[in-house]
Amino acid sequence: MQDLTDKVVAITGATAGIGAASARALAAEGAKVVLGARREERLQELAEELGDRVAVVTMDVRDPEGAEELVATAVDRFGRLDALVANAGIGAYGGIMDLTDEQLRVMMDTNIAGTLWPIRAAVPRFRAAGGGDIVIVASVAGLRGAGDEAVYAATKFAQVGLAGGLDRELREQNIRVSTLCPGGVATEFAMGAGRTPDMPGLDDMLRAEDVAAAVVTVLRQPPTMRTLVWSMRSIQEAD
Ligand SMILES: NC(=O)c1ccc[n+]([C@@H]2O[C@H](COP(=O)([O-])OP(=O)(O)OC[C@H]3O[C@@H](n4cnc5c(N)ncnc54)[C@H](OP(=O)(O)O)[C@@H]3O)[C@@H](O)[C@H]2O)c1
Repeated sequence: MQDLTDKVVAITGATAGIGAASARALAAEGAKVVLGARREERLQELAEELGDRVAVVTMDVRDPEGAEELVATAVDRFGRLDALVANAGIGAYGGIMDLTDEQLRVMMDTNIAGTLWPIRAAVPRFRAAGGGDIVIVASVAGLRGAGDEAVYAATKFAQVGLAGGLDRELREQNIRVSTLCPGGVATEFAMGAGRTPDMPGLDDMLRAEDVAAAVVTVLRQPPTMRTLVWSMRSIQEAD
């Protein structure tokens, strides 16, 4: 297993849920973390909690310039970038005609373009360094369709498809592309966005820390091994 001490990891969507838990878990492994999201106050709070091995960037993943700034900050502050965790995402649940055009547009832009821009910012750095890791936080919704979340699932299928293509494209350059596909996770995301009572309760879901542990596990694999798609569900959640 690889030691993550002093590895530099950029994380999108680091102000809450899986992203914040990943920042904590990676910092506990000795990594340096660069945290990106829109809510500046939350970024500052997490930076204070984690100490001087942290840099923060107030950015929107829908903006290619914000993604460039995230990566540039890693290099300026810590001299390198070893891994990107493309985690930022939003969900909106409802039938195909229930959500507004704007809700669908924001979700597609955040989950698809917002995954793509940080990857495009990171790949040149990884190529120059001789390798790197991209970990995409997708969803089990990206492995099969589901009623009342068809468009959310489509954005997650897009992430899985992007990862599959990038794996073929980047593997020979020692850039590993891994996709995590969790079921329900008890985060702010899970509590809003139109989820219905027949879905698992928060106590029955995965915890953000469980997925963060998977992020650490993927990054710790020997450089000769790559993780492709890892789907995971709480023991309580039916298939
Ligand atoms: N929770 C679940 O049940 C579940 C299950 C499977 C997969 N996932 C996936 O896991 C990922 C993380 O979700 P979570 O459950 O941890 O949700 P969360 O607690 O709501 O956190 C979402 C994070 O994404 C950031 N974000 C949203 N829009 C952004 C934007 N335009 N630019 C930059 N950052 C943005 C938020 O930060 P700001 O608001 O500060 O920008 C926040 O830090 C998502 O991709 C989600 O689809 C979640």
